[in-house]
Amino acid sequence: MSLRLGDIAPDFTAQSTEGEINFYDFIADGWAVLFSHPADFTPVCTTELGRTALLKHEFEKRNVKVLAVSVDPLDKHMLWKKDINETQNCTVDFPIIADENKVVAGFYDMIHPNSSETFTVRSLFIIGPDKKLKLSLTYPASTGRNFMEVLRVIDSLQMTAKHSVATPADWKQGDDVIVVPAVSTEDAIKKFSKGVNIIKPYLRYTPQPDKD
Ligand code: BEZ
Repeated sequence: MSLRLGDIAPDFTAQSTEGEINFYDFIADGWAVLFSHPADFTPVCTTELGRTALLKHEFEKRNVKVLAVSVDPLDKHMLWKKDINETQNCTVDFPIIADENKVVAGFYDMIHPNSSETFTVRSLFIIGPDKKLKLSLTYPASTGRNFMEVLRVIDSLQMTAKHSVATPADWKQGDDVIVVPAVSTEDAIKKFSKGVNIIKPYLRYTPQPDKD
């Protein structure tokens, strides 16, 4: 069965380009992005892994560990990594899991047989420090993912985990955020010292609480 938001993300131990990895040990008490791609030595996947490597410092700043996975073998991953570094002008130093036996793909339902019987689709999971699934997305092989969007969601998840707010459509760092419905307007005015802008009783904005 597929994983749903709030489910515990399955732990696993697997071979990777960075050695044997135990997922829970690797992510420790931080956040994780686990993402699959269809196959090594393919163009879209090459750009995705390159982009992820170039955003290394952005993931680190947010205490996020990144792991890629496909069903290709380790020796193929190792050779492809050189190509990614060369063509995308980056250094891939996050683990690429060699899931030849499709164990991780099975746990995370990354193979969608009506798309491909054998290859993983472009699945992406964000997992929180409590090891629970916070976001999942699935893209087809023909469409590369937007990793700035992944960072944007992480920012929203990390802020909304700490404050009683939600983020509106197209929210980005520095924009006003929404007071969650569970907080009364009376309490919101006390709680959010930067002010509350009441558009409707259910639509209330406040400046981003974790920004100076
Ligand atoms: C790619 O990464 O370019 C790709 C992989 C599988 C099917 C189509 C495209």
